[in-house]
Amino acid sequence: MDKLRVINAKTSNRDYKILINPGLCAQVPEILEDTLRGFEKIYLITDITILSIYKDTINEFLEKCGKPYRIFTLKQGEEQKNIDNVKKIYEDMLDFNLHRNDIVIAFGGGVVGDIAAFAASTFHRGIKLLQFPTTLVAQVDSSIGGKTAVNINNVKNAAGTFYQPHLIIIDPLFLNTLPEREIINGMAEVIKYGAVFNKNILPDLKKVAVSFKSGSLLKSIVSDIRFYEIIYKCCRLKAMAVKKDEYDTGFRNLLNFGHTFGHALEKETGLDLLNHGQAVAYGMLMAADASIMLNIAKAGLKKKLTDIYMLLKIPEKLPLNVFCQSINKTGNNGNKQISRDLAAAGTVQSMSFDKKFSSKSNKFILLRDTGRPVFVYNPDRDILIEAIKNNITGE
Ligand SMILES: NC(=O)c1ccc[n+]([C@@H]2O[C@H](COP(=O)([O-])OP(=O)(O)OC[C@H]3O[C@@H](n4cnc5c(N)ncnc54)[C@H](O)[C@@H]3O)[C@@H](O)[C@H]2O)c1
Repeated sequence: MDKLRVINAKTSNRDYKILINPGLCAQVPEILEDTLRGFEKIYLITDITILSIYKDTINEFLEKCGKPYRIFTLKQGEEQKNIDNVKKIYEDMLDFNLHRNDIVIAFGGGVVGDIAAFAASTFHRGIKLLQFPTTLVAQVDSSIGGKTAVNINNVKNAAGTFYQPHLIIIDPLFLNTLPEREIINGMAEVIKYGAVFNKNILPDLKKVAVSFKSGSLLKSIVSDIRFYEIIYKCCRLKAMAVKKDEYDTGFRNLLNFGHTFGHALEKETGLDLLNHGQAVAYGMLMAADASIMLNIAKAGLKKKLTDIYMLLKIPEKLPLNVFCQSINKTGNNGNKQISRDLAAAGTVQSMSFDKKFSSKSNKFILLRDTGRPVFVYNPDRDILIEAIKNNITGE
């Protein structure tokens, strides 16, 4: 990527720019002055891990803005996305005398982005919001589209608003410090865009991956200039889906490819054993198998996905013992074993908790081929079980 990429995101509430370029962080003061004129104060929300790595960078660009600023630091992790922290943020914003025309900067991953945006959308009924994503998930997905959320009593995203940001700044150089586990998380979303919308994302990703034969593969990929173009393509696709269906009632559901299986796997295996990205990665393979078994897609579909998994060294089969460990963690009946049949049946059962399901119709996003998604309602339960079993390994 040799020049600034600009996406003009259009929504019913407001249009805003998504700016993408490595090193963009250094230009934040000028960008804010140009795009969000008239603000008097800056309120930046981040988490403690990010602050420990980027304290100097953050302070430097805030100082250069020449306005009073305050930094609110969350601990890191999903459980921080809660309503008690929102209250603490509101109280701190009041103490700082923040006004509607001032700016909230969400500087971090999806957790920071979701809670900061929730607070920004409700404080004084809506304050200017800059999303400044620092994880791959946040750069290609969560910072775009205006969904804000907090968890209530362990129910994920139980409360939230739709509130579009006023600006998104994406500097891919922040990915250089991301742990591998977090890169896999985001890479699953990148593959999803390729599977659902094509746009050469999978071939482009392949090209980058094959050029790195050894060493820290995923880290090398996300630090490669060619990968920044892939980020740009993903952001354009997300912005397009949001423009078509801002409130996620139809078209935008396509972005949930692999997620119905993935969420159910997360629920069945325990959230700490399988992270979201890994679960979605397995979920996409299960959705591909279901597409083939339902004669919607040709057999070659699965290979298109497994080829890229192989190159990226993303596991293709979910070990059965992940389900067993989950049972043994919660149960007190000794070392219980579970069969693939039982693991798959439990996963199908867990799908009924999916937000996209209603009491009458269970909506799945399947594929005719890469780039050719299709909604399928109430597919046969036995086929779902087979599709899941196919992707679990172990006895
Ligand atoms: N609003 C949406 O549309 C949407 C979409 C997808 C996901 N989400 C939400 O996003 C959240 C997940 O986001 P995530 O995957 O970014 O996780 P995260 O925000 O928890 O970040 C993952 C970890 O990476 C660390 N980190 C962040 N940036 C870093 C950097 N540059 N270098 C080193 N470490 C860094 C964080 O401190 C954290 O420990 C979930 O809560 C999910 O519900 C929201």
